[in-house]
Amino acid sequence: MKLLVTGGAGYVGSVNAARLVEAGHEVVVVDDLSTGHADAVPSGCSFVRGDIAEVAGEVLAGSFDGVLHFAAKSLVGESMEDPGKYWRGNVVTSLRLLDAMREHGTPRLVFSSTAATYGEPESTSIREDAPARPTNTYGATKLAIDHAITSYATAHGIAATSLRYFNVAGAHGAFGERHAVETHLIPIVLQVALGQRDQVQIFGDDWPTEDGTCVRDYIHVTDLADAHLLALEHAVAGEHRIYNLGNGTGFSVKQVIDTCRLVTGHPVPAAVAPRRAGDPASLVASSERARHELGWRPQRAELDTIVRDAWEFARQRHTG
Ligand code: UFG
Repeated sequence: MKLLVTGGAGYVGSVNAARLVEAGHEVVVVDDLSTGHADAVPSGCSFVRGDIAEVAGEVLAGSFDGVLHFAAKSLVGESMEDPGKYWRGNVVTSLRLLDAMREHGTPRLVFSSTAATYGEPESTSIREDAPARPTNTYGATKLAIDHAITSYATAHGIAATSLRYFNVAGAHGAFGERHAVETHLIPIVLQVALGQRDQVQIFGDDWPTEDGTCVRDYIHVTDLADAHLLALEHAVAGEHRIYNLGNGTGFSVKQVIDTCRLVTGHPVPAAVAPRRAGDPASLVASSERARHELGWRPQRAELDTIVRDAWEFARQRHTG
């Protein structure tokens, strides 16, 4: 297929672009490089530098089979401080993309949605029919886009899939996480192991969980990319399907730090700090629907595999 990948210079977008090229697809990446890196765009992809809201119409005129839409603002904290940046950057941009798809008759869409659309969960294992009540602007914008996609898919016959990621981590060979300002747990712990930070802060140890620290469902970025390939294959014209992607097992912040200690052989000093605003205590996915309908089978579900791949990537970048 000929595919447009928005945000293909970012972490999840670049891994997906690499995986699509490996699978034999023709890939055009559009990225404005506001947070991505030009050298992260996999070889074998064409690259257009630009804002998707401005260039989508022109690019999609080139007759594409589908779009994988990763480009987004994705920092929860920032979304609370500067909501306009998120409503414009995520919702307005996505509407422009949907309009361009409609104009040019682009038949397929896979969208990066998020567990943040659910907010504070009512049950420990979150299914797609759980109430969507986002607790932050980031999640609210992604949910708004999901609603827009449903309308466009129904009205204009687009075969659309939203994949709701839980905590994406790990690396796919030379493609991994390299944010200018790192906020995610695993890369922060690995920075400590590399000597780039003195210690990791544990945001609260008084949560209602077994060891008092927050629990998350970590998913390997390569397994995530495999789900995108399956979503492209299984999409049905005029339907918008939504799938949660996680491994169904929760790990606490303390367990993640312990695993990083084992993998890196570094003692990784940790200190308890206050809770971080907007954090739910526990987020664990039920991915039964993706397994059943897409035939998705994660191959790298163990936390130490995920950390090992992230560590390999971080070490290689560190040593150049
Ligand atoms: N944490 C720490 N110390 C740190 C960083 C994080 O204790 O220095 C904790 C957080 O409080 C949280 C857990 O580690 O409990 C994981 O935090 P991350 O920042 O790595 O990830 P989040 O769970 O906050 O968010 C991620 C994505 C969001 C997405 C969400 C959905 O970044 O985009 O998963 O599950 F919405």
